[in-house]
Amino acid sequence: METSKVFVLLFLLSTFHFLVATCIQFEVGGKSGWEVPKSKDDYNQWASTNRFKVNDTVHFSYKEDSVMVVTEDEYDKCHSARPIFFNNNGNTEYKLARPGLFYFISGVKGHCPRGQKMIIKVLEPASPPQPSIDSQKKNGAAAMAAAVSSATVMLCVVSFLAVFLF
Ligand SMILES: *[C@@H]1O[C@H](CO)[C@@H](O)[C@H](O)[C@H]1NC(C)=O
Repeated sequence: METSKVFVLLFLLSTFHFLVATCIQFEVGGKSGWEVPKSKDDYNQWASTNRFKVNDTVHFSYKEDSVMVVTEDEYDKCHSARPIFFNNNGNTEYKLARPGLFYFISGVKGHCPRGQKMIIKVLEPASPPQPSIDSQKKNGAAAMAAAVSSATVMLCVVSFLAVFLF
């Protein structure tokens, strides 16, 4: 039993850097969290400096506010009667489960028009192949990364279970 525990521990340690690299959680707004920003453009500037991949998560911490995922039109209007996603428990995690655009707004009246809104662009998992040696190398690397990534998703599950086993 002890030996197997040591083995699992070594296994987890050796895969730890992959987990960090593939299961990224982004803290929206950094330390100050999800609130009316100092400058209207703050959240979109933050979003544009990050690279979001499929299955990364964004985490919002806040007090007396809410997080909505809405359509582009509703984002522009800063209003949604029936958001795609809504949460107001102060500790919201949202998984970016597909490539493309996600539109976040605050559900509190007046906050979104003051800039508490953000568009997140999630990258396509792999780029289409191109006929040059250089890009073939890159595609090889991308395929490798994809393989590693699906393996590490499994590892995430495995280590999650391992936490319970201990
Ligand atoms: C994202 O997660 C879902 C469910 O956990 C999984 O089926 C899918 O393959 C993952 N996609 C990527 C690109 O990791």
